[in-house]
Amino acid sequence: MLEAAELPEAQKKAIEVSGKSVLICHAPQGWFAVSNICSHANEKLECGRMKHGIIVCPVHGARFKLETGEAMSAPASKPIETFELRIVDGWVEVRV
Ligand code: FES
Repeated sequence: MLEAAELPEAQKKAIEVSGKSVLICHAPQGWFAVSNICSHANEKLECGRMKHGIIVCPVHGARFKLETGEAMSAPASKPIETFELRIVDGWVEVRV
């Protein structure tokens, strides 16, 4: 469970949901939930930079669109999983 107020804009946080590592991102473009695992070499994305609606893998620099999970640059060619997210009564809800 994550309270929306715990995550100000431009912040992100990795949480476990049903055994999956999910990265909750509060971007200026909105809230997004994506896999915390890079599609290139299974490294964690949580320490990557987030800007312009994109998360950058901190290991080899692949970029992923937060809205769709699409891989925007090498070395990743496959997308990352995205999840439905909503804010209900101040709490972040994610469906995996
Ligand atoms: S592990 Fe993310 S780009 Fe290589």
